[in-house]
Amino acid sequence: MIQVEGLTKYYGPHKAIDSLSFHADAGEIVGFLGPNGAGKTTTMRILTGYMPPSEGRATIAGFDVFEQSLEARGRIGYLPETVPLYKELTVWQYVDYMAALRGMGNPGRAERVDEVLDRVGMLDRADSLIDSLSKGMRQRVGLAQAIVHKPDVLILDEPTIGLDPRQVREVRELIREVGEHRTVLLSTHILSEVSQLCSRILIINNGQIVAEDSPATLSNRLQDTTRYFLHIGNATPKEVAKAIRGVAGVSEVYPTEEGVEIVADSQIDPRPAVTATIVQKSWDLLELRHVDMSLEDIFLQLTTDEAVAEEED
Ligand SMILES: Nc1ncnc2c1ncn2[C@@H]1O[C@H](COP(=O)(O)OP(=O)(O)O)[C@@H](O)[C@H]1O
Ligand SMILES: [Mg+2]
Repeated sequence: MIQVEGLTKYYGPHKAIDSLSFHADAGEIVGFLGPNGAGKTTTMRILTGYMPPSEGRATIAGFDVFEQSLEARGRIGYLPETVPLYKELTVWQYVDYMAALRGMGNPGRAERVDEVLDRVGMLDRADSLIDSLSKGMRQRVGLAQAIVHKPDVLILDEPTIGLDPRQVREVRELIREVGEHRTVLLSTHILSEVSQLCSRILIINNGQIVAEDSPATLSNRLQDTTRYFLHIGNATPKEVAKAIRGVAGVSEVYPTEEGVEIVADSQIDPRPAVTATIVQKSWDLLELRHVDMSLEDIFLQLTTDEAVAEEED
């Protein structure tokens, strides 16, 4: 349904996305996961026909997003990162206006506006000014305008950003509902979001796809290792790293400025053996703590894994 081949975009000399290729089949919810600046919005803007790529091509239901932009756009519902809502319009007027922009005429349009507002739970706020709505309600209205013309494909750019936890839950539930029987590409920088909503995850970093996984295999991959930070008072990080390397359960050790980072095999807790070594060396233990993986670490690990896998091939 969505087919992307070798998509590249330069902003001046800066390459924002670099030969991206991926696809999304009919009925799939595909997650587009990546940190800020990875190139998610750029890709989505190209897919929705807002700007041309520098190289490569993309099709929606077989229509080239650039050369057959009218046909492609008619099949896409787009929720941009920042919804350009017209604050002086009421909810109803705004969705009606967006429907008219998509070429929907009366009779039928007014009924359809009522229907989608009901669908997103905003019918009772139809006459409210957009300006008076909470961020969560605005995202609902944003979803209403995205589905008003019954598109086959939904492109949602960080749909839950800036929402409070309750609103996040509600909007996710709504995405699940409106995503049924549609192809959805959803971008986010939140790992748990894609695992909850998506059947397949594309991980993008620095404009490139670094991994493609199901939520289950992705979390398995990431749980394979555990990290600890160790700080010793009376030995240098290099000395500590040398002594810890090879201890039971430790798979890698990196000296850092303050201490050492230990990467452990998740099957064996390395802390007993590490502690024994510290005692044996009569070192002063200042800190030994578990390090949570940040999204950046995850990308680093995935990128490194890929590089290692390629070398091994
Ligand atoms: N209009 C623009 N002009 C110049 N550089 C841009 C523009 N939009 C985005 N970029 C750059 O392109 C890269 C990708 O940005 P973007 O697609 O917005 O990433 P994401 O949505 O994943 O945060 C970033 O390095 C960003 O600074
Ligand atoms: Mg973005």
